[in-house]
Amino acid sequence: MSHKIVPLSSACGAEIQGLDLRQPLNADTAAAVRKAFDDHVVLVFRGQELSENEQLRAAEIFGKVALRKKPVSGPGPGGDFDTPFMMVTNIVENGKAIGAFGDGEMWFHHDTSYYPEPHRATLLYAMKLTSWGGETCFSNMYKAYEMIPPALRDRLEGRKVLQMHDYKRRERIDVETADLSRIRHHEQPLFITHPATGRKALYVSRLMSARIEGFSRAESEEILEQLFDISEDPSIVYEHHWRLGDLVVWDNWCSIHARKDFPREEPRLMRRLTIEGQAMRF
Ligand SMILES: [Fe+2]
Repeated sequence: MSHKIVPLSSACGAEIQGLDLRQPLNADTAAAVRKAFDDHVVLVFRGQELSENEQLRAAEIFGKVALRKKPVSGPGPGGDFDTPFMMVTNIVENGKAIGAFGDGEMWFHHDTSYYPEPHRATLLYAMKLTSWGGETCFSNMYKAYEMIPPALRDRLEGRKVLQMHDYKRRERIDVETADLSRIRHHEQPLFITHPATGRKALYVSRLMSARIEGFSRAESEEILEQLFDISEDPSIVYEHHWRLGDLVVWDNWCSIHARKDFPREEPRLMRRLTIEGQAMRF
């Protein structure tokens, strides 16, 4: 199969055309897809018709597929565990949500930035879409890093940021009152060196970044607000308008993503896989 790589925006994102992911890729094509992934941060494969097994095989191009484990304590997402798949959906059957992250807008975040080893990548496959909305916005955190004023960047070099998540979708956690024994959290470098590309990326998000170490609460909040604004600058955001059969893969170390609102009375169903990660380093 010959394929074509078509950039989707000046921020990030490329469409890979000409591949049917029901077929295994040969080694050269798989290597080219991985190279495009490192170059473009987000890859879009349109018009795919994938069974679970075919999506799993496509995911393996990018690394080892992660298994979903139920949190030991505290709040957690819904759906099934001990499977690699998560259904991202608002569908309710017999009074019970069949998946997680049901409705509405969701603020910018990295997936699992509150894990000691954040996932390398996430794959989302569109199976049911609403009549409007539900776009996913991806922001390029390499570019965000470059946009930080140099004096501020120097001041923040070598700092850590506390990442935490209690499965809310558009609300920051108050770090002063939060019960950390119940909420998943981990301190990460504020600027990471991407393990695959060696490039520096900003590692904050409005939803999950709670506090920068070594500053007063007020200073930390002020700096975080500035970094959030940079990280969401429209010039570094690619907005994906979903079509049925889209498989989208994003690099979860150097991008953050957000979901726009959609009608809650219409069913939306995405099948999600993640790729195992590693510890983030300065
Ligand atoms: Fe996410």
